[in-house]
Amino acid sequence: MKLAIYPGSFDPVTNGHLDLVERGAKLFDRLIVAVLRNLEKEPLFSVTERVEMLREATAGKSNVEVEVFDGLLVDYVRQRQAHVILRGIRAISDYEYELQMAMMNRKIEPNIETVFMMPAEPYSYLSAHVVREIAKLGGPLDGLIPPAVEQRLRAKFS
Ligand code: PNS
Repeated sequence: MKLAIYPGSFDPVTNGHLDLVERGAKLFDRLIVAVLRNLEKEPLFSVTERVEMLREATAGKSNVEVEVFDGLLVDYVRQRQAHVILRGIRAISDYEYELQMAMMNRKIEPNIETVFMMPAEPYSYLSAHVVREIAKLGGPLDGLIPPAVEQRLRAKFS
């Protein structure tokens, strides 16, 4: 039974994240989407809201679960008895940060591998950060986030 953990802030979940969930759920027997509770910066959405949106968006996938984690990612992965961390890489610019994180996680726990996947091309320039910014400025978000997430974003900024 291959279990992978897909960690992130998901503030909020985007169609790029969901594309990765789709790919990960095909590759692994079980996928846990792990939402970091305490972000360094104040999140737009509370952890409860972020988890709710992810659960709504992944409801149709029987091998996908959504959980919250705190503290070191590798501790959480060990606790779940998983050996794989799934991360998405969009562009070269993501690589340095991801490399640093993967190498540091490997140094702390050599038995955990980080697996990188690329989202579909239309999502290669999409991030939760730009989604928050467009929403704040009242711009269009068609095709970038699930409709339920758009509703919540619009409500935040109305
Ligand atoms: O969606 P993000 O913000 O790119 O996700 C980053 C995340 C949550 C995967 C990363 O910040 C993380 O793992 N934080 C937990 C604390 C930790 O283990 N830090 C050391 C990583 S080298």
